[in-house]
Amino acid sequence: MIVEPKVKGFICTTAHPAGCERNVLNQIEYVKKQGKLEGAKKVLVLGASTGYGLASRIVAAFGMGAATIGVSFEKEASGKRTATPGLYNTRAFDEAASKEGLYSKSLNGDAFSKEMKDEVIRIIKEDLGKIDLLVYSLAAPRRTDDSGTTYTSTLKTVGQPFTQKNWNLRDNTISDATIPVATEEEILSTVKVMGGEDWSDWIGALVEAEAIEDNAITVAYSYIGPKLTYPIYHEGTIGQAKAHLLRTAEEITSRYMSSNGIKAFVSVNKALVTQASAAIPVVPLYLSVLYKVMKEKGLHEGCIEQMDRLYRDRVYAGDTVSGADGSILRVDDYEMKPEVQDEVMDIWERIDSDNLLELADTDGYWLDFYHMFGFKIEGVNYLADVEV
Ligand code: NAI
Repeated sequence: MIVEPKVKGFICTTAHPAGCERNVLNQIEYVKKQGKLEGAKKVLVLGASTGYGLASRIVAAFGMGAATIGVSFEKEASGKRTATPGLYNTRAFDEAASKEGLYSKSLNGDAFSKEMKDEVIRIIKEDLGKIDLLVYSLAAPRRTDDSGTTYTSTLKTVGQPFTQKNWNLRDNTISDATIPVATEEEILSTVKVMGGEDWSDWIGALVEAEAIEDNAITVAYSYIGPKLTYPIYHEGTIGQAKAHLLRTAEEITSRYMSSNGIKAFVSVNKALVTQASAAIPVVPLYLSVLYKVMKEKGLHEGCIEQMDRLYRDRVYAGDTVSGADGSILRVDDYEMKPEVQDEVMDIWERIDSDNLLELADTDGYWLDFYHMFGFKIEGVNYLADVEV
């Protein structure tokens, strides 16, 4: 069938298989151009199908030559409905890995569940013995824990409501949006979903099963961003979860460092258009202004450039992890450069519905958005019939 984008608010309900494949191949090409990298050999990526997790897996496989296992939660196609992009991305990744003789196994299911942990550990033991890198890149709306309780994550503020400029994606206008205050229960729920508890459970299960090497490294991802977005991000419900993630990194390292040498890090990444970030109020406007400024300064990066730099220049830069401040690694350094932030804030003050298209890179935002779903990608024939 011929697949066209169907955009509803911050989500696109269709995905193009050939476009997704091209997207993955472009990222692989980028990593290969950067050259070989001495790093991990057996890698497990949780949240491996899109965004930062997919880029991490590509760097591991095509940069480090590692065997990879990827876990994600994607929807299969049914009837005339296409699959979600992560499914096509994963298929393209597996095919490309297989062509190069690289081991890859991809599982589609709930990474929070005990069943998935057992299944992944069984595969590691059977096929790889032990892993030496665990990338934790889940971005999920909810989590059901081992006791059967389901927690939902919310994007709200803590303490006081927050009013800020917001880009209405439907009609390209800017108006104020007010983000409400989370209840105590919503904060705790968000921490349950996006905090470090499940990451710690994974490490515990891997250690207990002897499925992780001594001196292995594990990395999870976080965001800080400018003061402007603090109320909705860094100090909001998601920020509380990220603070928990960081405490978890410290706990993992202190628990296993002396016995197994396992080290845990939280990498603070750049703000980028992904399915997770497009859903956060205020953030799309910040992103489109940031893109404008960073592109003009030649500093713009996407997921693959970020993850290549993280593993090449930080995690596996030498015998020890380079540039870590305790458990924190930062690849948001370009985004946070004072000259970038000063200009973003200057534009932020002035931006309104009339000058939006001139002061922000709305085209760049939308292009990244469409790319996530495999649309508007150079070299793809969108008039051709494709199997979904
Ligand atoms: P994404 O939405 O592109 O990817 C999320 C991944 O998690 C997908 O592979 C999805 O299939 C998987 N997933 C979701 N629920 C799952 C479940 N129950 N079981 C198994 N897999 C599941 O998100 P993105 O943006 O790449 O986020 C990854 C991490 O990076 C998150 O921790 C996020 O907070 C962080 N981050 C994102 C930034 C951004 O601007 N997008 C900036 C800095 C950090």
